[in-house]
Amino acid sequence: MNELSRVIVFATGKGGTGKTSCAANVAGLAAQAGMKVLLVDLDSQGNLEFDLGYVDKGDEGKHLVSTLLTDGVLEPVLKNVRPNLDVIPGGGKLDELEDLVLGRERRGEDGSILLANALKPLAPDYDLIIIDTPPSKRSALVMLALAAARWIVIPTKSDRASIKGLSVLADQVVRIREVNPTIDVLGAILFGMGSAATVRRRFAADDVRSVLGDSALLFESIIRHAEAAAGDAREKGKLIHELAEVVHNAEPWYVALKAGRRPERPAGSSLALCDDYVLFADELIKRIGAAEEAEGADLEAVTA
Ligand SMILES: Nc1ncnc2c1ncn2[C@@H]1O[C@H](COP(=O)(O)OP(=O)(O)OP(=O)(O)O)[C@@H](O)[C@H]1O
Ligand SMILES: [Mg+2]
Repeated sequence: MNELSRVIVFATGKGGTGKTSCAANVAGLAAQAGMKVLLVDLDSQGNLEFDLGYVDKGDEGKHLVSTLLTDGVLEPVLKNVRPNLDVIPGGGKLDELEDLVLGRERRGEDGSILLANALKPLAPDYDLIIIDTPPSKRSALVMLALAAARWIVIPTKSDRASIKGLSVLADQVVRIREVNPTIDVLGAILFGMGSAATVRRRFAADDVRSVLGDSALLFESIIRHAEAAAGDAREKGKLIHELAEVVHNAEPWYVALKAGRRPERPAGSSLALCDDYVLFADELIKRIGAAEEAEGADLEAVTA
């Protein structure tokens, strides 16, 4: 099996569609379920540090840049950010990678495979490697991630701008297949869905079919709109299932008031949002399992 067969990239050509939130929460839930997970932050915004609460403990992407510059091997810079979950942080330094990739390409080399090469020796230590990417259309960072991944997961919204984002990504995938022919779309997940979910789901399924060729690529699960819970989680550096646990265990407001304490009021919508992420993570892991089983069966048929 390909060493990078468990590398998933969260990507789409549009900003603010939930790439980072989905990457962090799926990684956290998979780690909690016992999988050994590595998160790679390939975004110079470095937003994963807020979702996971390792603010100021990262290196702004320094390790990623120096490793790729020297054709070295990546190390998990932050170990056990949660049990079973390691992180290679991103941040402002990653902008230097754009020049590195473009420079190699000007010399006629293939710059986009640098991350794949640096990740291969580390990959056997993990059950799942998740890469978060920036929204930029031309970004060499996105191409680095796509060249290293087996699967793409696309968080999307059901609006006109998001379908454009899907098309941008589809073009990037066509280009990257020249260096990474095994890459495939695992699915698209509807993110930030409001109450008109059924109608919007139908439109989104049409969009997914028109750009990606198959409406079944849209995940059954959705991530609902829950701004207060999302904001609260990022502010506290907690994942949604961790925030839901706080809500679940919170003392009733009247008990706090009676005792003269200010009641702690984390957003109650984190409970429902947590259910969405659990269902999504479960569906995503099952899709990988089903694809691997089918590949195994194909291989057996060929070698029989
Ligand atoms: N379930 C949700 N409902 C509403 N808003 C949310 C939800 N989850 C996250 N958000 C908010 O939506 C915004 C975008 O989310 P996120 O950062 O995950 O998207 P992104 O695609 O990674 O963005 P970028 O393209 O800038 O990297 C953030 O401000 C986040 O707090
Ligand atoms: Mg992001």
